[in-house]
Amino acid sequence: MFRLISGIRGPSGFGSASTAEHVTQGIDAANLTAIITGGASGIGLETTRVLASRNAHVIIAARNMEAANQAKQLILKDSENARVDVLKLDLSSLKSVKAFADNFIALNLPLNILINNAGIMFCPYQLSEDGIEIQFATNHLGHFYLTNLLLDKMKETAKCTGVEGRIVNLSSVAHIHPYKRGIRFEKINDKSRYDDKRAYGQSKLANILHANELSRHLKAEGVNITANAVHPGLIMTNLFKHTEMLKFFSSCILWKNVPQGAATTCYVAVHPSLKGVSGKYFSDCNESKPSRMARDEVLAKKLWEFSNKLVNAAQNS
Ligand SMILES: NC(=O)c1ccc[n+]([C@@H]2O[C@H](COP(=O)([O-])OP(=O)(O)OC[C@H]3O[C@@H](n4cnc5c(N)ncnc54)[C@H](OP(=O)(O)O)[C@@H]3O)[C@@H](O)[C@H]2O)c1
Repeated sequence: MFRLISGIRGPSGFGSASTAEHVTQGIDAANLTAIITGGASGIGLETTRVLASRNAHVIIAARNMEAANQAKQLILKDSENARVDVLKLDLSSLKSVKAFADNFIALNLPLNILINNAGIMFCPYQLSEDGIEIQFATNHLGHFYLTNLLLDKMKETAKCTGVEGRIVNLSSVAHIHPYKRGIRFEKINDKSRYDDKRAYGQSKLANILHANELSRHLKAEGVNITANAVHPGLIMTNLFKHTEMLKFFSSCILWKNVPQGAATTCYVAVHPSLKGVSGKYFSDCNESKPSRMARDEVLAKKLWEFSNKLVNAAQNS
């Protein structure tokens, strides 16, 4: 908390006051292709802008194509040589996730970096197109399926280029406030006990468990790809559209601006000092310790199997 408020730098040399531009200074990402989900607004847009300004080819994966095209134009206005493309993706629909992956693969591009950034928060109870509670479906399951579908492309790219692939899951400090047992495997869609805050916490816990389990799979396979999770800080974005009270009560000293909010993602996605670092959780551009549940390997394995079952069930229905 002291480090967050004071902005004092941690062991990485960066801290809560560091911006995405600051942590990527001097990095040439011209050999990298990145997909950023939700890259049309908030933290995702700043991540796109900064990685593109470091010469990466960035694909904005967005459900709102108008917003995505506007974001692209905004970035091009700033730097006309930026390589930014947009592709349609609705993470709350597994069909849309599959279509996105097929469309991306058809472009025959390499893929070095996948940033699972898109998210929704504190929504009223709702089921996704596939009949799954909407925050879990969007924040976790859509990204879980997307990552699986793009993994072969990432492996192929890492093998052909010798450049380490990186997967970054946007989690949150809210992962410490899930349902009592973490993930409600037996009652994922239970409306009677739905709590919008705990459902968000559950989905953000799932983001860390997913990155950790994925990291173990990648290490076991000996693949040159890392997977990590980050908490970006508290940043006033559209994410807070369901939370007027929180806006009102939160102390302004805890808030970061958007450039600061995109710093941890960019640091984990491209900084050379994190070569080979995988299965970790970062906040304020430094490694941090997530909750006990987030470090639970049994829970992570169970979530992996559960998520596979949900994806398979949706495909067969
Ligand atoms: N802001 C914070 O304080 C904070 C704190 C901790 C963690 N985070 C995490 O940071 C990430 C980015 O959040 P943000 O603050 O930048 O919020 P944001 O400005 O609301 O951006 C979220 C992005 O996700 C997209 N999205 C939502 N549902 C989608 C779907 N079904 N399919 C595809 N895209 C979808 C949104 O698109 P639309 O415009 O179409 O809705 C938007 O572009 C989230 O994962 C969030 O949980 C944020």
